[in-house]
Amino acid sequence: MILAVLKETAKHEKRVALSPEVVRKLNNDHLQIWIEKDAGLASNFPDSFYQEEGASISASKDELLAKADILLSVQTPSDEDLNKLKSGAVLISFIWGLQNPDLVSFLKEHKISSLGMDAIPRISRAQNMDALSSMSSIAGYKASLIAANELDKYFPMMMTAAGTIPPSKALILGAGVAGLQAIATCRKLGAVVEAFDVRPAVKEQVESLGAKFIEVELSDEETETKGGYAKELTQDDKLKQRELIHQHAKKSDIIITTALIPGRPAPLLITKEMVAEMKPGSVIVDLAAENGGNCELTEAGTTQVVNEVKIVGPVNLPSQLANHASTLYSKNILALLNLLLKDGKPNFDFEDEILLNTTITHNGEIISPMLK
Ligand code: NAI
Repeated sequence: MILAVLKETAKHEKRVALSPEVVRKLNNDHLQIWIEKDAGLASNFPDSFYQEEGASISASKDELLAKADILLSVQTPSDEDLNKLKSGAVLISFIWGLQNPDLVSFLKEHKISSLGMDAIPRISRAQNMDALSSMSSIAGYKASLIAANELDKYFPMMMTAAGTIPPSKALILGAGVAGLQAIATCRKLGAVVEAFDVRPAVKEQVESLGAKFIEVELSDEETETKGGYAKELTQDDKLKQRELIHQHAKKSDIIITTALIPGRPAPLLITKEMVAEMKPGSVIVDLAAENGGNCELTEAGTTQVVNEVKIVGPVNLPSQLANHASTLYSKNILALLNLLLKDGKPNFDFEDEILLNTTITHNGEIISPMLK
């Protein structure tokens, strides 16, 4: 079996799908590993690191695509590249099938067996494969550092000979994986942290990280789906929530927003009227920027300054921590390959809940129930 890894081509993408460490772990008699020249360079994994672990390097992407039995990438390769794969080849990458129906049809028609790293079920057994969690955690960490960098104040309380500086106040909206990591990082940097989420179940987790959980009485008590994700709020509840956030936003120096609802645009939590009443110099880092933003004034990929409030709309934050993001993504892939490969060959056992949900297409059919 030939396993190939391409150099990512998307703008701002510095990650690579396989680290040298995971090449070592995968290296066995059944598998030949081929890496496109310089694929790991932007993550600070030069070709020599891969060669030391037993991988071969090729400068010809076409050659790799033609011979790959399994192709690994972070972003989905272009249609042009996918066209060069053999029928029956396996692709493992982020696919976002719900948002990309044309891509799913393409993979189905070309009989590519595709597994979506974004489709791993959020169950205990799949935790070591959960690339959404590993990448969200990085995004939450990096968002806190961006906030600290943009703010013209200390995060921690400072007792100096010239007087005492009070700690900055951070408000985290959305306490999923990214939000919890943002809380932890802001706390470690010394800020006083408050957090809000529509799922009351996260209150305990927020408090265990040393932050205060802000509560709002919602009329709809069912704010969570069976899968543990948030539901969209009723119009009435959205207004109640905005009023509460408004009161807390006025007092905050930093707001980090991470709220997402699967398959829907990101909920609007911070209106321009709220920004107008924030303190000059405050910073908003909107992690939902790529999904429409949690703040009305966010523009993905740029920083807006409105009424002296900075609104940062970062894009692909995990790529900014490319070395560790690639390390963790590779480990997620290794865990999935360990489940998929039997005696060195892919074994699509759809009795297995993880393989059933993660397999987007196989043998010219759509498999994941999420897409049916
Ligand atoms: P996500 O990225 O889909 O959303 C981020 C957060 O935004 C969520 O906590 C959500 O409740 C919140 N949110 C949505 N609308 C909001 C609003 N209007 N106001 C405030 N907050 C709002 O979530 P993520 O981080 O992907 O986690 C989703 C679920 O999966 C969580 O329940 C998490 O605990 C669970 N999970 C389970 C794992 C496992 O058991 N293996 C691993 C990782 C996550």
